[in-house]
Amino acid sequence: MKIAVGCDHGGLEHKNAIAEHLKERGFEVTDYGIYEQKSVDYPEIAQKLCDGIVNGDNELGILVCGTGIGMSIASNKVKGIRAAACSEHFSAKYTRLHNNSNVLCLGGRVIGVGTAIELADLFVDTQFEGGRHQRRIDMITDIENK
Ligand code: RB5
Repeated sequence: MKIAVGCDHGGLEHKNAIAEHLKERGFEVTDYGIYEQKSVDYPEIAQKLCDGIVNGDNELGILVCGTGIGMSIASNKVKGIRAAACSEHFSAKYTRLHNNSNVLCLGGRVIGVGTAIELADLFVDTQFEGGRHQRRIDMITDIENK
């Protein structure tokens, strides 16, 4: 599976650790940066990564900013993206199972690196359940298309 990662200055350490971990697990990881500690505008990173999901370059994305919230708000403006800001295990799992989320957003100032790696693992290892949940995803897509 191809996975994209990205961050702003609030999530560099977490993003690098997640990228390294997922590569060690055998995933093909595309890193949208940043690559060094500097202040950047998170919507730019979110848009680039999300465009790559929508056009099929990558299947899932993981974005890290200070809270995970800015990245998730920006990501959810991109048609076809379902982004979830998560800081605990249950949500990271169920946003795949029920929401078929394709982008996980994490807060580098909210959770530690170890938790971030565990949430990333849960997210990429969990499959969408489909069934009644697909109907609800279709309803979200209808809203998006209005
Ligand atoms: C940057 O200081 C911070 O606002 C950003 O990382 C993020 O937390 C936004 O939601």
